[in-house]
Amino acid sequence: MSAHTLRNDTGLEAPMTRSAAAFLREQRVVPGGSMRHASWFAPHPPYAARGEGCWIIDLDGRRILDCANNFFSLAHGHAFPPIVAALTDAIAKGTAFGVPMEAEIALAETLRARNPRLEQTRFCNSGTEAVMAAIKGARGVTGRHRIAKFEGCYHGSYDHAEVSLESRPEEWDDAAGNPASIAYAKGTPPAVLADTVVLPYADADRCAAILKREGPSLAAIILDPQASKAGMVPMPAAVIAAVQQACARDGIMLIVDEVVNFRLGFGGVSPLFGLEPDFVTLGKIIGGGLPVGAVSGPAARMAVYNHAAGKPKVALGGTFSANPLTMAAGLASLAHYDEAAVARLNGLGEMLRQRVNAGLAAAGLPGRMAGAGSLFRLHPGARKIEDYRSARPLPAEAEALPRIHAAMLGAGILLTPNCSGALSTPMGEEQVVLIADTLIKATIAEFQA
Ligand SMILES: Cc1ncc(COP(=O)(O)O)c(C=O)c1O
Repeated sequence: MSAHTLRNDTGLEAPMTRSAAAFLREQRVVPGGSMRHASWFAPHPPYAARGEGCWIIDLDGRRILDCANNFFSLAHGHAFPPIVAALTDAIAKGTAFGVPMEAEIALAETLRARNPRLEQTRFCNSGTEAVMAAIKGARGVTGRHRIAKFEGCYHGSYDHAEVSLESRPEEWDDAAGNPASIAYAKGTPPAVLADTVVLPYADADRCAAILKREGPSLAAIILDPQASKAGMVPMPAAVIAAVQQACARDGIMLIVDEVVNFRLGFGGVSPLFGLEPDFVTLGKIIGGGLPVGAVSGPAARMAVYNHAAGKPKVALGGTFSANPLTMAAGLASLAHYDEAAVARLNGLGEMLRQRVNAGLAAAGLPGRMAGAGSLFRLHPGARKIEDYRSARPLPAEAEALPRIHAAMLGAGILLTPNCSGALSTPMGEEQVVLIADTLIKATIAEFQA
């Protein structure tokens, strides 16, 4: 894209905003002009100058209500004063040591106090790393190397976790009618596909049948019970039961990916679904806005990483793992995301979904808003959403969603590019009403166009 293609919707040359200028500059030194695949959208995102509570102030001085919250990683929005204070204090003491600090103990204790199953923890720097660590941990416990994951579900960019992330309808089923293992990145080693079994998110019988056949060779089953890419709808209880039965029967490790959905409950999402994971992967809000990941679980499982008696079955390290800034921000974030805060934010999420769904129904529109707690996702179609396949936008919807996203941004509200979002604690009913009414208006305008 050149400067000449940055046009406004009248077709006239747009005034060269500071964000546009920054994008043109970034394109020269960064492929695609964006550091992150998921956070780019056409013609270019606004560039943030700073954040303030639930607002982003962009380079052009525009105030944008932030519902993306760095892909759901900010429970308290931007520059939350207790996090700023904790970071200011921590940064003055030094940012990285090759010896431990007490803050890492405190954050691990905080997780354990919120959910006793998070008995022991190792911190790392991203959710991707946490998933990789958990999968390696499961392999270390079982001595097996294959894993199973659910079709369309995102768990970061570790090779096995990426399989069938965005498979297309023509490649969905294998010869036996089961979800096929499809490479996401070009050049994925064939062994990765052979070693990754793909499960259907909403079909308990098929899931049980696949696990009956494959179970004895599996090290782990990884699942997110309210997966965004599977529509942000709950995984059916019967599927969860099939998974837990297979794990118990065949000695498979259950990994629950709570990188996003930890925010749904005070103790995270596993207790809400009756899940009993061997490993839990965490990230996002537990780092208070700094890079973070964690693998956590019962001490008997976490022993796989224990080096006290020499080289562990699985060695975990990382130069900046459990760095003091992340630990300080994470502690402040979770201290202020207590049971009352979780309940309040979940209530606002419920209000948002109800208001949007009532508004769309009143306008006779087919769409609906899915989600749980403080997370939401707009589906513009009329069909029942129950898994990745049904949630995958049809061609017309794939064209409508960016227009709705752009209309929202035009009205000063940032969603993620697929029109999902997360609320943050600085928001109140006023913001929820604004988000809902703007989204209803944008959706009506899209359907009437
Ligand atoms: C469910 C889930 N797991 C893992 C990850 C990877 O986390 P990170 O981006 O910190 O590597 C993400 C990121 O969005 C996620 O949504």
